[in-house]
Amino acid sequence: MKFFVDTADVKEIRELNDLGLLDGVTTNPSLILKSGGNITEVTREICSIVEGPVSAEVVATEYKEMMREAEVLSRIADNICIKVPLTLDGLKACKAITGDGRKVNVTLCFSATQALLAAKAGATFISPFIGRIDDMGVDGMELIGEIKMIYDNYNFDTEILAASIRTVNHVKQAAMIGAHVATVPPATLKALVKHPLTDKGLEAFLSDWAKTGQKIG
Ligand code: E4P
Repeated sequence: MKFFVDTADVKEIRELNDLGLLDGVTTNPSLILKSGGNITEVTREICSIVEGPVSAEVVATEYKEMMREAEVLSRIADNICIKVPLTLDGLKACKAITGDGRKVNVTLCFSATQALLAAKAGATFISPFIGRIDDMGVDGMELIGEIKMIYDNYNFDTEILAASIRTVNHVKQAAMIGAHVATVPPATLKALVKHPLTDKGLEAFLSDWAKTGQKIG
């Protein structure tokens, strides 16, 4: 499973990238707002840190303007992945952009049939939003399973990018189902390493080691 970080916070991205944990980054208009920076400058900086795909989202809702924005965003760096919403215009833009050999992440996916359309439009990634479905009292993880089954049935190349991840358990379940990618907020990504027995065990080892009076090397 590839790990993308779901943030436009350059400091966090740098830290996680230095740990060797990042395969890519996803941003969206809300995350750009939170970063407090200019979309072009922030995105350019992120692309210079991370080698993998960096999703940058168009904000137009009509095909022509989406294509113009996609052009502008694509010029930022070679590893830009254009993010389009799951609408008819978004799907049309997806088909045209991927037809040019560029990567597209189709976002705001909340149903299996939407995901089927995105795959038919040649999407590089489909982003089903798990947490936002959970918020409605429905199990968002079921959608990941449905999409996986449909994509496997027809051998679609589109990668399932589990998005709107809120918990460590979301990551585990998405990985068990076989999502290709998880885009995870920085805090949740760091929380994946935590286990109380690891902390307790390390504490005991270090305490016993101190009693030996030895040094390595
Ligand atoms: C994905 O690319 C989206 O940016 C993101 O996962 C949305 O998550 P949220 O529901 O926590 O805003």
